Amino acid sequence: MWNSVRRITGSLMSMKGVVKSIRFCLFGMAACSAFEAEAQNVNLTPQPKDIQVQEGMLTLPSSFEANVNQLGDSVIQEVDQFIEVLGASSGISVKTTGDAKALLQVRLNPEIKNSEGYVLRVTDSGILVEASCTDGFFYAFQTLKKMLPANVMAGVKDPKVTSYALPLVQITDEPRFGYRGFMLDVARHFFDVDEVKRVLDMMACYKMNKLHLHLSDDQGFRVEITKYPRLNTIGSIRDDSYSTDFGGSGKRIHTYKPYGPYYYTKEQIRELVAYAEKLHIDIIPEIDMPGHFGAAMAAYPEFSCEPDVRHPVISDESHTPTIPNVANPKTLQFAKDILSEIMDLFPYPYIHIGGDECDASHWERNEECMAFMKKMNFSHVRALQSYFTKEMADFVATRGYKLMAWNETITATGSDLNLIKSTGADIVCWTGAEAAAQKAYSLGLSNILAPQPTYYINRKQSADPTEPTGPGNGNETLEAVYNYAPANNVAADKLHYYKGVQACMWTEYISADKHLEYMAFPRLMAVAESGWSPASKKNFENFRQRMQQDTVLFHYRDYEYGRHYLKASQ
Ligand code: ACM
Repeated sequence: MWNSVRRITGSLMSMKGVVKSIRFCLFGMAACSAFEAEAQNVNLTPQPKDIQVQEGMLTLPSSFEANVNQLGDSVIQEVDQFIEVLGASSGISVKTTGDAKALLQVRLNPEIKNSEGYVLRVTDSGILVEASCTDGFFYAFQTLKKMLPANVMAGVKDPKVTSYALPLVQITDEPRFGYRGFMLDVARHFFDVDEVKRVLDMMACYKMNKLHLHLSDDQGFRVEITKYPRLNTIGSIRDDSYSTDFGGSGKRIHTYKPYGPYYYTKEQIRELVAYAEKLHIDIIPEIDMPGHFGAAMAAYPEFSCEPDVRHPVISDESHTPTIPNVANPKTLQFAKDILSEIMDLFPYPYIHIGGDECDASHWERNEECMAFMKKMNFSHVRALQSYFTKEMADFVATRGYKLMAWNETITATGSDLNLIKSTGADIVCWTGAEAAAQKAYSLGLSNILAPQPTYYINRKQSADPTEPTGPGNGNETLEAVYNYAPANNVAADKLHYYKGVQACMWTEYISADKHLEYMAFPRLMAVAESGWSPASKKNFENFRQRMQQDTVLFHYRDYEYGRHYLKASQ
């Protein structure tokens, strides 16, 4: 059954039937050959590492069996999840059996070395799914769903769709990077559990696997912390809100009314973590310290450099009205206690500690900090931040966690690089991203590329004057985001330091769910493809056409999206 499709790399060839290797459009899109057109009919984003297409389709019968013989419970769970969504959206019923003749064969293949990799073959007589880990099985099923009518990936019924057929393909796939992330700032504006779930759903459709939640900033502290209730009763409320009137004037607005209290309860965080886990997405919490920690300092000024001042929770886009007094052992304990409760909630063993844009002049004006700096023999005030970061790293390490941090942790003048090197933190590179990544690997630290401006997808996506108010001049277009080439000129022996990519959504100007979606989609998919697909497979025009087809998927779930390169589907 399977030998009618064989793996042949590099060129067009044929055996029994016409089998075509898809290496399309790398050298321009001037003429769209039948070969390219066929490739586009297999509407997969991100593009798989290797896909070959045979003419014809496999129409799924209204019921069939899946052979799950000898599979463990966790793999069967993945199969069941696929069966459930397929049934709910198409009405097709699939029963699990141990029958070697079942239409769908699901097999463990220990030869597949990448835990997220998989092999998927569809012939006119059946489907074979192989992986070595549950991640790989999940992605194989995501690919299967994506090749069916879009209501299947959307998970919704559509009475107009009466036939569910798969193209005949052989796919050997694995991601280019293990970290394919999206950072959502829920501090400047809060997005409720339902909206975060919608974001997670869309990320999973495109094989993204890390949601970095920016949970605290000067404008709000957004997670329940039992030991310090004022973080929520004070830190999650501000006097005013500023944002953009999405769907109205598109102009900047102030409410002049209190914004909050808005934060996730522990129960809600557990719900989100469990939801994300099913989608093979890890949630990485960020508690931004010591800069951008203003909401926490408003709630507990006694731990700040100016303990007698009543610090505000900031209502505009300015930042860092004060910083924690790192010479005070009680302040360090406060930060550790917060991280302790954070570790109780988030099982993925990485905590993002922020570390960006910390105005160290507060330490320079604080006698206790200056005395401490002298005592520690630090030659630069910035070393106080390095000391603080090292303290937090050692603390989370006692529970097997590691830190992630913004790149100022190593690039700010005066940082104590020996201290930071010893933390083993992953560096999220945003400002001067490429140079920061190089500096990180010179210290033996891994990096994630989140380059500003290109991957800051809260920036305007066109220069059209009707674009909603926000940062940027319209240069962060879908095409610009897509064409960013992560780690493309990095020496082979340094590539292992490049864990992956991350799009960032800062929400100073974004308060409405629809506005968030409009900014995120489809630019997030452009980042997803750069994170998953081989660089040699990227082609903007082809991607654009796939996104055009995916507007059907967006509409099924009523997602808003930027239509700049796309026409709305019916
Ligand atoms: C940042 O944009 N301050 C990480």
